Amino acid sequence: MEIILAKSAGFCFGVQKAVEKVEKSIKEYPKPIYTLGPIIHNQQVINRLKQQGVNSIDRIEDINSGVIVIRSHGVQPEIYRYAEDHSLKVIDATCPYVKNIQKKVERYYRDGYQIIIVGSKNHPEILGVNGWCDNTAIILEKEEDAHSISRYNKVCVVAQTTAIQEYFLKIVAIILEKSQEIVIFNTICNATSERQEETKSIAQQVDAMIVIGGYHSSNTQKLMEICKKYCEHSYHIETYKDLPLSELKKYSKIGITAGASTPDWIIKEVIVEMEKDLEMEKKQQEDSMVNIKVNDIVMGEVIAVNEEEVMVNIGYKSDGILPKNEYSIKKDVHLTEEVQPGDQIQVMILSLNDGEGNVLLSKKRVDERIAKERIKNAYENQEIQEGKIKKSIKGGFIVDLGFVDVFMPISQYHIKFIKDPEKAVGEEVRGFIIEYNPSKNRMIFSQRVLLEKEIQEKKDEVFQSLKEGDIITGTVKNIVKFGAFVDLGGIDGLIHISDLSWKRVNNPEEILSINDQVTAKVIEVDREKEKVRLSLKDLTEEPWAKFERTFNIEDKVSVKITKTTTFGAFAEIIPGVEGLIHKSQISFDNVDKVEDFLVPGQEVDVKIIDLDKEKRKIGLSITALQNKPVKKIEKNEMVYQEKDNLTLGDVFGNLFKNK
Ligand code: F3S
Repeated sequence: MEIILAKSAGFCFGVQKAVEKVEKSIKEYPKPIYTLGPIIHNQQVINRLKQQGVNSIDRIEDINSGVIVIRSHGVQPEIYRYAEDHSLKVIDATCPYVKNIQKKVERYYRDGYQIIIVGSKNHPEILGVNGWCDNTAIILEKEEDAHSISRYNKVCVVAQTTAIQEYFLKIVAIILEKSQEIVIFNTICNATSERQEETKSIAQQVDAMIVIGGYHSSNTQKLMEICKKYCEHSYHIETYKDLPLSELKKYSKIGITAGASTPDWIIKEVIVEMEKDLEMEKKQQEDSMVNIKVNDIVMGEVIAVNEEEVMVNIGYKSDGILPKNEYSIKKDVHLTEEVQPGDQIQVMILSLNDGEGNVLLSKKRVDERIAKERIKNAYENQEIQEGKIKKSIKGGFIVDLGFVDVFMPISQYHIKFIKDPEKAVGEEVRGFIIEYNPSKNRMIFSQRVLLEKEIQEKKDEVFQSLKEGDIITGTVKNIVKFGAFVDLGGIDGLIHISDLSWKRVNNPEEILSINDQVTAKVIEVDREKEKVRLSLKDLTEEPWAKFERTFNIEDKVSVKITKTTTFGAFAEIIPGVEGLIHKSQISFDNVDKVEDFLVPGQEVDVKIIDLDKEKRKIGLSITALQNKPVKKIEKNEMVYQEKDNLTLGDVFGNLFKNK
């Protein structure tokens, strides 16, 4: 922070003299000493003087004896007369410049001139001056006031010593038009105009202005007015205690001026305080300044960005420059789209001086380092990575993992074959880094390995949960000659054709169709060979058991012919249990061809004539339910005789072996 102190800041000649006179009076005269009104518009000075026995009074009538000091503003003649009448000791500290105005006004008033004063109506200096023309002066504060005055033959114009030159000249120009004879005295004090000019000049070149002086001091207020006009950040203070230090930290160049009533020691205090704060801040900055060296990685805040570079505050004495080619691993980035001022980024120090005093930074190398670390961890720990297929290249794909691009060979894309690799571009993928060689910068990604792993895990899970005897539900996925495959959610179970039904099944499609939902019984789980065997027929009672439970030898049953042979016909007793009707048991007539008597599908009543439980063979007979016919010659008609008893062996012989 640079501080520019106005040379003209502080006590003017008149105020300096007045204060000196008071201080001298303190030594020479008995206390109390009175001042008519505050000696200057500065409360701190007033307080000091008060402690030394100097009291301020508003009206001279309030005292009848003692020492009265007339301040630099001057007073009207009546005051002197009163003092004389009451034998008061007068110390006249009226500023010589003000005295000069009073004399001019007195003289021209006596010569018949209308006195016009450009200044503030209620200012003590103007009240005093007006007294020297019997309070007949026209007092103009603003240009507009000048337009409304009457025409005069003889006019004498003076100015308040602290009036602003610019306004005075404008008002005079208006009065010129309204008077025949005019005498103009530019009585603006040089000290004031010089102070104002210097203030204007400094205000134009700094970021902030500080005006020191009493809040009620008119010349200080005028300085403030000028400052505000030329410097947006202007502050009026009385002492260092009013300094807006935190605000001032924002500015690098600060100007200081002070009103005519501001003593040097107050100005010094302000400067000392500012420098102290500055020093403290500098120290804090130095303390907080990071100690950096090449290759360090630090956090920084983006302070500016354009398409070519990013400017970063890294807490070092110089800002860091991050060129576009050091920004990202990715090419063709638009810096203004990537970062904004205020963003926090991690950067590596490439050089402490890029030749122009800036620190050269790289974010790309930090990203590379982080990416390598992540890849290494992902590879070593076999962490699942997610990414997007960026493009298809010869032999595979480039996959963007967000922090790095990796190669995925086409064989590692999926467990399924892919016909058109271009169609996979844009797809989200998950997988493992299956090969990582940092020295060759080789990173191979595989989705297939993950898919296989997941399938295996699912299989294992299903195998773990399956056991023989379980009743499961699944979807028929495939039908082949020897059976049907059922999807059990990860693995396929086989229902062999022989396990589809207790009945004879020639083709599995007689029982099942693809996509059928089936409920089956797990009859075998081979975890080693990863095979599961299912059965539909095991869900129902074994027909032979049912047969044994239901039927006995000699029972009469209705059966359905299922097949005819040269030696007889097979008939279904209940589903899954068949018996044989030997051709000798079909009819009492000579059965030459079985088909002449029985056809498949035909239902007939038979008698169970033999039962071999061990071999599960059943002999059936139609004729056993009939009477044997006897030929009666005389009546020429057939009659039946009771059947002979036959054994199963008599009927079948070895026929079942040939079925
Ligand atoms: Fe006198 Fe000028 Fe100061 S008139 S009091 S020297 S500002």
